[in-house]
Amino acid sequence: MESGRKDVVILAIESSCDETAASVVRNGREVLSNVISSQIDLHTLYGGVVPEIASRKHIERINQVVGEALEEAQKPLAEIDAIAVTYGPGLVGALLVGVAEAKAIAYAARKPLVGVHHIEGHINANYIENKELEPPFLCLVVSGGHTHLVKVADYGKYEILGRTRDDAAGEAFDKVARAIGLGYPGGPKIEKISKEGNADAIAFPKAKVAENPYDFSFSGVKSAVLNYINGCKMKNIPIVQADIAASFQKAVTDVLIEHAMMAVEEFGLHKFAIAGGVAANRVLREGMRKACEKRDVEFYHPSPIFCTDNAAMIGVAAYYEYLAGRRDGWDLNAVPNLRLGER
Ligand code: KG4
Ligand code: ZN
Repeated sequence: MESGRKDVVILAIESSCDETAASVVRNGREVLSNVISSQIDLHTLYGGVVPEIASRKHIERINQVVGEALEEAQKPLAEIDAIAVTYGPGLVGALLVGVAEAKAIAYAARKPLVGVHHIEGHINANYIENKELEPPFLCLVVSGGHTHLVKVADYGKYEILGRTRDDAAGEAFDKVARAIGLGYPGGPKIEKISKEGNADAIAFPKAKVAENPYDFSFSGVKSAVLNYINGCKMKNIPIVQADIAASFQKAVTDVLIEHAMMAVEEFGLHKFAIAGGVAANRVLREGMRKACEKRDVEFYHPSPIFCTDNAAMIGVAAYYEYLAGRRDGWDLNAVPNLRLGER
């Protein structure tokens, strides 16, 4: 921090899906603590996230997670400048737990409250380990709920170039994993088993969306996998999980790379980043790295721990919102379908 400017320390809370998380972030780029309590084991029993269970678990865990985040950062509440929280998009019951917690702490400790968009958080995760990264740049957000190709024009200023018309990329990974008997969460399991498979074994379709070349569609490839499995069963052909997984992974990552590079070329930006849970995928990262290298574009990605849901990314996004003057009132509410760039 330049001399004369006071540090801004933010306590951030994230509870939009199945991770209860809290983090303390200094000046938007320095993560002092990053506590994540995952419910994955619990939801694995049901093959996916059960919203009612997620909300209940958040309530059970949130106070402890926030306490741990403050303790690990060695920051008492008195030294915190603002309380940030994800208020959308996500599961409404899950979001409400974080929002209520943040409001209660902010009210009791007389701190400003800053509501953050979850996707903005994912994008901003790139600032944590890439200290030199500054807008403008292009970012592909690929998570369980979202697939957005975004132009980050400035801090807090986003233009959505393309989005999925149906399933999100992560959702497709989860559904295909379930179909081939790998279970939840699908992304990491498909990535793992793909290493033993042949990515060229089956030619799954790579959907193009006619009106907008930057939009995505993943329901077609998911149906193609289901049809392929049914076909194998009818013909009594053995189902090779690893080949299906590797071929599916290739079909999805190829489309993501093609669309992203089309945007990189059209917009002439020399910085490109990926974000969200699927950005943890090594095949996607390597493919993007090579494609960027070829075009002389700088490639950025967060470490896997900052790709999947966490509160540090919310603390980073909140810092720039805080600097821009954003303050929320006690009427801040959970908005399950909040759009990026909306207030
Ligand atoms: O960002 P995230 O934690 O939550 C949402 O905001 O949705 O993303 C979770 C998604 C899940 O669909 C999960 O299967 C996927 O990210 N995912 C992966 C990998 N790790 C997580 N997909 C592909 N490869 C991975 N290694
Ligand atoms: Zn997320």
